[in-house]
Amino acid sequence: MFVSFEGGDGSGKSTQAALLAQWFESRERDVLLTREPGGTPIGERIRAILLDPDFGEMAPITEMLLYAAARAQLAHEVIAPALAAGKTVISDRWLDSSLVYQGVARGLGRAVAEVNRHATEGLMPDITFLLDVDPVVGLARARHDGTLAAAALSDTPGHDRIEAEGLAWHQAVREGFLALARKHPERIAVIDASGSPDEVHERVIRLYGEHAGDAGRKA
Ligand code: TYD
Repeated sequence: MFVSFEGGDGSGKSTQAALLAQWFESRERDVLLTREPGGTPIGERIRAILLDPDFGEMAPITEMLLYAAARAQLAHEVIAPALAAGKTVISDRWLDSSLVYQGVARGLGRAVAEVNRHATEGLMPDITFLLDVDPVVGLARARHDGTLAAAALSDTPGHDRIEAEGLAWHQAVREGFLALARKHPERIAVIDASGSPDEVHERVIRLYGEHAGDAGRKA
């Protein structure tokens, strides 16, 4: 089984992906936890380029191709072999991030899905948890600083190239994810990501149970 977490910056995906991995492990499942961009030595190098705040001149198409390149390596080197070995794979982001950040927010549209058809080797999650949170809250969490919402509202640059985008851009990202969830309700479960990590984890487990129940009934 392949599970992904999606959401805006600071939505708490990494924490929730790790909590779900522990939960599966406590149930004797063999779990592989990975993240995008990254998850392989090549992917981590690409990640460093993508998030470097000095590369403000990066063209949108370059950005999209680099995310796709990191994803291709992750699919090939890590995810496909893990699924073939019967593991449960949890990825902190997958293709939906590119469809929303590059396709919607950067305006690249359908080119993103076309390029990524090659990158993903057709691997799509069985279930995706979309952690939905107001970007003002998310950015404040992501920036880990005391100025909190004021920083997001005043468009103060964050510490990576993507977080440094303004609030309107992050709002477009949130709307993009919600639109994608409306398009694929059978795969994408929207989760209210406000509250404590434990509260959000409980919501994830509840929705996972419902989804697993549905899948069982259909099988
Ligand atoms: P991530 O490490 O998930 O950051 P965070 O934990 O702060 O959300 O992702 C890094 C950034 O890369 C994030 O701002 C979203 C962006 N991103 C894209 O723009 N396109 C993509 O395809 C992916 C995977 C990430």
